[in-house]
This record gives sequence, structure tokens and C-alpha cells, in this order.
Amino acid sequence: MARKPLIAGNWKMNNTIGEAVVLAQEISNEFYNDWSDHVDCVVCPPFVDLKPVKTVFEFDRTKIGLGAQNVYWEPSGAFTGETSVPMLKEIGCSWCIVGHSERRILFGETNEDVNLKVKALLEGGIAPIVCVGESLAVRDAGNYLEFVTAQVRAALAGIDEGAAKECVIAYEPIWAIGTGRTATPEQAEEVCAAIRATLNDMFGADNADPIRILYGGSMNEGNAALLLAEADIDGGLIGGASLNAKSFMAIVKDAMR
Ligand code: PGA
Repeated sequence: MARKPLIAGNWKMNNTIGEAVVLAQEISNEFYNDWSDHVDCVVCPPFVDLKPVKTVFEFDRTKIGLGAQNVYWEPSGAFTGETSVPMLKEIGCSWCIVGHSERRILFGETNEDVNLKVKALLEGGIAPIVCVGESLAVRDAGNYLEFVTAQVRAALAGIDEGAAKECVIAYEPIWAIGTGRTATPEQAEEVCAAIRATLNDMFGADNADPIRILYGGSMNEGNAALLLAEADIDGGLIGGASLNAKSFMAIVKDAMR
């Protein structure tokens, strides 16, 4: 089955509300709604920017999706500083990044946490964008395929076959994130193909087929087309280049080719 490409912008901890509204408006101005037949375009701003960005998109009636960058798995309660699935849902998030390497490394997020978040999101009807990827040390040691596919298995453990198709996997080698050193299309494809094989094994080929696998890590308008041409790369998770509307939209256009 041909999967519809997905391009998601991960703004990380960038843009105050005022800046976010400007960028959302610029992105909306560049996007034509009939593109949404061919590509899913999503932006993932910081929590405080979600509602203002949603308001811009609603006003413009644009078909750009909204995603969060993190979530907590409990629906409510004494969890100071956390944000729940129902809260994201009410704002209008259809997507949520989980298990980004920055959260794993800087905030101690474990595979078990990621799994709980994925389950809570699926239950609440929000599509998880599950990030996996190896460090440079793991790549140099040579066991990166085992490492990444184990992350996939852990993140999606115990998930119903039918619900699995809502998940998106983002392969983001840590050594390529924000470094300007992107994986070559061959390097990215090797790992994405191994992820595809793992998903087939876990859920059966028919259930796994709709699951999209993204590449992320210094993807930009100069290298996106070649990465997106690979058989098992169905889109991109874009950090730095998503902070500029023209660069981000150039990648969205590449995904439609
Ligand atoms: P980058 O970030 O595009 O700036 O490398 C990607 C990501 O971390 O999602």
C-alpha cells in the first residue's frame, strides 16, 4: 500500500506566543489545502503555543495538523507540571511526539514511559509519533539495528493490532539531530527497512502496512528529496528547518513528488 507522506515540524523549545503566531501564519500562508490529499503536514509547537497556533489554523481553515511534543499518561491528578491526553485533545491536537531523544537523554524518559504514553494517546484518539534512534557510540559499535528495533518493540509492546496503524515511527539517529550531519539516504533506509520488518513481525504485514516511518535528523530542503525517495521512508520529522516557513514548506512539497 502506498502510504501518504507525513511531514511534521518539531519546534522544540522555540517561539513565544507572539513568535509562534507569526510563524503559524507564515506556514498557513504557504500551504494549499488541496495538498492535504497528498501529504499530511503537522506542526508541533511548545505547549503554551498550541492554542494560539490552533486559533491561527482555524481562522484560516487550513488543513495543517497540530501536535504536541510530549504528554503524561494519566488523565488528571497530582502530577505537577504535566499535561494530559484530554487536555491536548480539547485544544485540537491530533498528534503527539513521544520518546524524543532529547526527552530520553535530558529528562530520563524510559522505554516503559514511552510505552505508557503511546497507550494513553491511542486510547484518547491522538496519533503518537514515536521517536527512536541510536547514539554515535551505538552506531560505531555496529549494533544499531538491534538497538533501534528493540526501542520500537518496547514502545509498541502490548498494543492492539488494530490500533497500531495509528502510530507513526520517527527514526532519528541522535548523531544527526541538530548537527547538520544528516544520515545518508542509504543509512536511513537501512534502519527504516529494519523498523518496517519489525512492525510486520509484531502486528502482521496487513496491520503494519499503514504505519508510517519518518526520518529525522538535520533534514532540510537540500537533502529531503533523496531521503523521501527511499522505499521505507514515508516522511520527515523536522527540527531546525521547521522554524522557517519557506524551508518547511519546501520539504512538504518534496514529499508530494
Ligand atoms: P533537526 O531535529 O532537524 O534540527 O536535526 C530533528 C528532531 O530532533 O526532531
